[in-house]
Amino acid sequence: MQKSLYVWDIVVRSFHWLLVLAFALAFATEDFSVLHAYIGYFILGLIAVRLLWGVIGSKHARFSDFIYRPRVIKQYLKDLFFKRAKHYVGHNPAGGLMIVLMLISLILTAVTGHYAYESEVFMIYAEHESWLEEVHEALAFFSLTLVFVHVVGVLLESVLHGENLISAMISGWKRRSE
Ligand code: HEM
Ligand code: HEM
Repeated sequence: MQKSLYVWDIVVRSFHWLLVLAFALAFATEDFSVLHAYIGYFILGLIAVRLLWGVIGSKHARFSDFIYRPRVIKQYLKDLFFKRAKHYVGHNPAGGLMIVLMLISLILTAVTGHYAYESEVFMIYAEHESWLEEVHEALAFFSLTLVFVHVVGVLLESVLHGENLISAMISGWKRRSE
């Protein structure tokens, strides 16, 4: 029997796809400082809204719904390996961990970007990259790596559990045959 469940509210979905767009634009504008800075601040703003929504939002949007103990995450990954992982309606334990890591990494990327930008403004004649720029760059690429693992995880989960997670993040609905 087909069963439809409304899982991702409009705030979660708007946050997700605006973040995808802004993240891509941040990489595309890395050489145009001012525009790049505004896009970075926009990402920080998006995350601020998401953090608030993680406390007051709908059931599956809340952090309490997808932050699990390390033991549960380890067990989930083990079960995934043996293809017997339990199905979760909201984010699964590994996905939840990934989301927390991505949010932290993006915050650190944007904050170091802010300080790198400030130091650039004051050191117009600087010949070398400041250490802040280097840290910012390393964090930006660390975030990109996390995103890559995230997308691979989403595709893997979709295949393993026979559900289209991407369309669920677009429409908000999950369709599953029971
Ligand atoms: C086009 C590539 C992408 C696809 C197809 C995709 C897909 C998804 C899907 C399906 C989910 C829900 C996972 C679940 O059901 O548990 C999700 C969640 C999430 N994704 Fe992506 N994603 C993409 C790119 C990104 C990027 C670039 C970022 C960050 C810069 C990102 C950050 C997140 C976050 C933070 C969540 C948690 C959403 C929430 O609860 O607010 N994703 N993504
Ligand atoms: C999560 C958000 C952000 C991402 C993903 C991001 C990503 C990047 C990337 C990929 C680079 C190029 C690194 C390189 O190869 O040299 C870069 C450079 C830079 N970013 Fe960001 N950034 C973000 C936020 C910010 C913010 C908020 C600011 C400032 C307010 C900022 C300021 C800078 C500066 C000054 C540079 C050095 C540009 C140059 O080489 O002249 N970034 N960023």
